[in-house]
Amino acid sequence: MAASKILGTGHFLPEKVVTNFDIMKRMETSDEFIVSRTGVHTRRHAEADVSATDLAEKACRAAVADACLTMDDIDLLVMNTITPDHADPGSGFFLQAKLGMTNTPVYDIKEQCAGLIYGIALGDSFITTGKYRHVLIVCAEVLSKRIDGSNDGRNIAILLGDGAGAVVLGPSDYADKGILYTKLGADGRDAKALYTAAPGTGLNRADCINTDDVAAGRVHFRMDGKAVFENGVAKMSQAVVEALQDNGIGFGELDLLIPHQANLRMLEAIIQTTKAPAEKVFANVDKLGNMASACLPVALDQAIQGGRIKQDSLVLLVAFGSGFVWAAALIRF
Ligand SMILES: CC(C)(COP(=O)(O)OP(=O)(O)OC[C@H]1O[C@@H](n2cnc3c(N)ncnc32)[C@H](O)[C@@H]1OP(=O)(O)O)[C@@H](O)C(=O)NCCC(=O)NCCS
Repeated sequence: MAASKILGTGHFLPEKVVTNFDIMKRMETSDEFIVSRTGVHTRRHAEADVSATDLAEKACRAAVADACLTMDDIDLLVMNTITPDHADPGSGFFLQAKLGMTNTPVYDIKEQCAGLIYGIALGDSFITTGKYRHVLIVCAEVLSKRIDGSNDGRNIAILLGDGAGAVVLGPSDYADKGILYTKLGADGRDAKALYTAAPGTGLNRADCINTDDVAAGRVHFRMDGKAVFENGVAKMSQAVVEALQDNGIGFGELDLLIPHQANLRMLEAIIQTTKAPAEKVFANVDKLGNMASACLPVALDQAIQGGRIKQDSLVLLVAFGSGFVWAAALIRF
């Protein structure tokens, strides 16, 4: 069966650069704490009138142009975000309209930081079975609008940045070029280690949301930082080792490893655990923070634009996010 490959990539970042000193004006924290625990120095924040689909639209247009296609060529749109434009319907529909599509099927997926790889696995299946030819996958986040500067939320608030990245998948003429491998994982037992309780029907009461939810912080992310850190390192390290083993290769054959940019300390722990050569591991979290699902497609596009991915490069993407969810994809360019 023929493979699918990446035909184009694109990303978009808001202009506003937010330093740790700017963050210190919004919550009780310090540059020293943020840098030593997360490695983040700056991140981008969108303006108040910008939504996730505004960022997504720009990334999609860049990716489709990079693939030398038009929106009319796109057979399926896949959108992932944890910062939707509205509670419902899915942000993919708002994005579809902005892109001028009127009859393109839309998948709204919610795979958190693993959204790109889950989207690639989905698109790859549709393309290799011949159902669709061109699949546009986009991950976009405006996490700055979900910042809780209280002491209950600051452990995650310090990490968050905004951005969007997109890829266009299409058929590959060669089975050994393109998406060579995807492996998806999930374990819902720890879903509350990083979650937002409200609005929701799981609150054991008659309404999804009420005014107390805001005061009680139930509308904000709550994270057990240690559980997320330990599971993130373990699952992403396992995903790297399995991907290499399953494909019969070592780090010598790999040109670039792009992990989800959760925080720099997690990347360092993954390097230590897997013995990955540090120079083959892509990192931009120091400048862009953790943009949840947007991390991977932004990093991928930056790596291509920066010349770290060339024709024939072998690249491994790995991700981990709340759920818990994790995934890997091996791609020959
Ligand atoms: C968030 C993280 C940096 C916190 O580090 P930690 O050592 O686990 O910190 P803890 O949550 O145990 O808190 C330690 C202390 O720091 C404090 N603290 C937490 N966030 C803080 C902040 N932003 N500024 C200052 N102090 C902070 C806590 O209140 C606590 O104080 P106490 O000891 O007086 O109670 C760390 O857990 C982490 O990196 N986790 C992974 C997060 C991540 O990557 N999430 C995204 C996954 S996609």
